[in-house]
Amino acid sequence: KILILDFGSQVSQLIARRIREAHVYCELHPYDVSLDFIKAFAPKGIVLSGGPNSVYEEETYLADAGLFELGVPVLGICYGMQWMAQALGGRVEAGAKREFGYAEIKARHHSKLFEGLSDRIDDAGNGYLDVWMSHGDKVAELPPGFHAIAETPSCPYAAMADEDRGYYGVQFHPEVTHTKRGTEMLHRFVLYVCGAKPSWTMPNYIEEAVAKIREQVGDEEVLLGLSGGVDSSVAAALIHRAIGDRLTCVFVDHGLLRLNEGQMVMDMFARGLGVKVIHVDASAEFMHHLEGVTDPEQKRKIIGREFVEVFQREAKKLDNAKWLAQGTIYPDVIESAGAKTKKAHTIKSHHNVGGLPETLNLKLLEPLRELFKDEVRQLGVALGLPHDMVYRHPFPGPGLGVRILGEVKRDYADLLRRADAIFIEELRNTRDPARGKSWYELTSQAFAVFLPVKSVGVMGDGRTYEWVVALRAVVTSDFMTAHWAELPYELLGRVSNRVINEVRGINRVVYDVSGKPPATIEWE
Ligand code: XMP
Repeated sequence: KILILDFGSQVSQLIARRIREAHVYCELHPYDVSLDFIKAFAPKGIVLSGGPNSVYEEETYLADAGLFELGVPVLGICYGMQWMAQALGGRVEAGAKREFGYAEIKARHHSKLFEGLSDRIDDAGNGYLDVWMSHGDKVAELPPGFHAIAETPSCPYAAMADEDRGYYGVQFHPEVTHTKRGTEMLHRFVLYVCGAKPSWTMPNYIEEAVAKIREQVGDEEVLLGLSGGVDSSVAAALIHRAIGDRLTCVFVDHGLLRLNEGQMVMDMFARGLGVKVIHVDASAEFMHHLEGVTDPEQKRKIIGREFVEVFQREAKKLDNAKWLAQGTIYPDVIESAGAKTKKAHTIKSHHNVGGLPETLNLKLLEPLRELFKDEVRQLGVALGLPHDMVYRHPFPGPGLGVRILGEVKRDYADLLRRADAIFIEELRNTRDPARGKSWYELTSQAFAVFLPVKSVGVMGDGRTYEWVVALRAVVTSDFMTAHWAELPYELLGRVSNRVINEVRGINRVVYDVSGKPPATIEWE
């Protein structure tokens, strides 16, 4: 296994993610763990992360340089490289120019890290790699035994190596996707330089996670708010695997879920996996509180508040529960850490099952905290959840509440649910032959929106005067920006026909061709 020492970079966890993609087990620990800890960990290799500090500042982050006596390969990234250079007798100084963003490094081919890797080769046969730089300081003098293995015009030691000892330093960030061949570099380091075995797989991970949950929880009971979304579902399946019926899930149906969602959750968890699930139909209550409310933010707040209210009421009935489990995943952790420092404009007040209050006085159990979304999905499949469920599009906490524009009414929700189900079914059943995937897989999120507008139509010999439904489908990698999906006209036509024919009350279907920005993905 590989040890990653975290010097405080925003992207340290990404290093772990990349290494795990090579099926090599790794753990991330603070930079100041003791040498004894490192020895006991017995790493095959050590990665030193980036960090916000300067090595020459007085109060900086210094790891125990004794790790260089252990005879294991070390890869230093950015600040990690600088600390390594300094600890081994080199010199670091403030660069005249800060480097942020893309850079092209000229690679020297004789290093195990880059050998044969290049994004571009010039006429003289030199290889170049596109990398992501983010640093002010740089190594000014290499430590004894090292030589440069890559350079940029402003940074002669963009990467350094002492290949005999297996020591490497890179000034750029191989863990971010902007460094195109970065994943390969990290894989080369752990597999070829460290000689780690690619034996870390989901089944092994489950075993460890289960052991950890058992140890944490002891013989106490756990409560979990199940939303039907991927994260809470996988968390439920994992915790159930660990502690069986000492887990109780509460599934709150606010009446704003997708078609047959409640049924599906109960089938999958209660009947399928044998998980204890309390199904609370709170739709009447939600509808009541939403009556006459048209403002999107107010609707969001009401739904969020009611949700907490209902959940708490149910939680109080389970007086044995000592733990509240949440499906928090690593991107949530980064986001909320970032939210403390950034004062972003509130575009929408998000609500999800993760936002439950501290007033419950329960200890927090977050078994997915270290996993990225794709790992959570793999875990879900490995735990026996259906593939389609685990690879579903995201669904917002306020549900159809933000997809029914203006006032929410039960019959609007019923119409919308049916239109939405038809759209999703057609997306799932229509493949793009060129890419060999269904349009559901080719879009990141797709749904129908209810517009409380009536338009005139004609059906048979009669005039109709009915509601409008908008279809929305987007392609995005991070949901911060998105493109509207270029769905085939034929598919759109079929959805439109089916919705109008099958959902009495809707006589017009439109397709939303707005990107984000300037629009958002949801309509409210
Ligand atoms: P917008 O509409 O802001 O949506 O472009 C971006 C992504 O966030 C989802 N979304 C939510 N998810 N609680 C959630 O859990 C919410 O309150 C919420 N509002 C929006 C939205 O579905 C899209 O994936």
